[in-house]
Amino acid sequence: MISKKISQKMASGSWIRKMFEEGSRLKNIHGAENVYDFSLGNPDLEPPLQVQQTIARLAASEESGTHGYMNNAGYPYVRQAIADSLNKRSGLDLDENNICMTVGAAGGLNVALKSILDQDDEVIILAPFFVEYLSYIENHGGKPVIVNCNATTLLPEPDVIMAAVTDKTKAIIINSPNNPSGRIYPAELLEEIDRRLLSLDHTVYVISDEPYIDLVYDGATAPSTLKHMTNLLVCFSWSKSLSLPGERIGFLAVSSRCQDRANLCQAAAYCNRTLGFVNAPALFQRVIAESLDAKVDISRYEKRRDMLVEVIKKAGFEVNSPEGGLYLFMKTPTEDDKSFADLCAGRRILVVPGRGFGFEGYVRLCFAVPEAVITASAEAFAGVASEYGLN
Ligand SMILES: Cc1ncc(COP(=O)(O)O)c(C=O)c1O
Repeated sequence: MISKKISQKMASGSWIRKMFEEGSRLKNIHGAENVYDFSLGNPDLEPPLQVQQTIARLAASEESGTHGYMNNAGYPYVRQAIADSLNKRSGLDLDENNICMTVGAAGGLNVALKSILDQDDEVIILAPFFVEYLSYIENHGGKPVIVNCNATTLLPEPDVIMAAVTDKTKAIIINSPNNPSGRIYPAELLEEIDRRLLSLDHTVYVISDEPYIDLVYDGATAPSTLKHMTNLLVCFSWSKSLSLPGERIGFLAVSSRCQDRANLCQAAAYCNRTLGFVNAPALFQRVIAESLDAKVDISRYEKRRDMLVEVIKKAGFEVNSPEGGLYLFMKTPTEDDKSFADLCAGRRILVVPGRGFGFEGYVRLCFAVPEAVITASAEAFAGVASEYGLN
């Protein structure tokens, strides 16, 4: 029999999962081409050709030991290459000892949280948030403390964060570019949060979850958290920037300015092992070492973002264009985001209610979908808008 705890968690389910199931139902009835599915965050571009060729070449290697275990933190040469690349962006002096290769960003977040949390330690998360943070924090005995972002800008407010800090606060998770809001935190905001946390009389770590850091639009770059923050752990993956989510490859970087960094780096390798990951996938560590300058064609995502924004605006809704990531977070014309999502589903449009990210009154749409889906959805969006008298 499964545990009571897991049984309860499974019964509550996630909103993304619910929309996925609703999508399957609608696709069975109407045919997949007649359902406009914006609910899932699965990048639909293939990995860059150069990366695919590197995978094929390295997979064919007959060198002995290439499929063996290695240091729990990963191959030293791969970690050093990543440290060098981070140093270029941040001006810091990381080396291989600051990097632990992880099983995606999700693996990195779990390793980071396990490394620092004692029972009942609090971790601040900023709504709207990636819902898995709740599970990851609870996995390691921590308590999530939810702090809302500004209702209009969707950016975190340092005063509100500080009001939530207690003696038990061990960390805050930040995520920029943000899933679901699409906002990028400006450098001054990162610095302000950092300054305020450093003024406390105990250490509060910043865990920066940044799988979307390379997916930014309009020629912008997302500020380097390593450059602007101090007690910092960075979780990154190539799930989105190289379209490799199924290969589960990422890293955890401990800043060279971070409190207790030497112990933290060793703890990360230990936790990678004892969480049962043992080490990040060997083949993909080697692929990454040769692909550090590669990324998917961002202009294709930018084009889809622009197309979806246009479709939604034309229908009569208000929406801000996301600055980065793969999602558009749209204010619903009614406070009840669930009824709005249901109404969309009635017109075969699948979106995820904001309450699935701890933030009601919005819905999330993923624009990593084929352009034909966006174009074909225009009429259905206009239909939803007309039900609210918007056109
Ligand atoms: C904000 C955020 N963090 C972490 C993850 C997990 O990424 P990975 O697949 O690299 O584990 C995702 C995946 O969608 C995400 O959106």
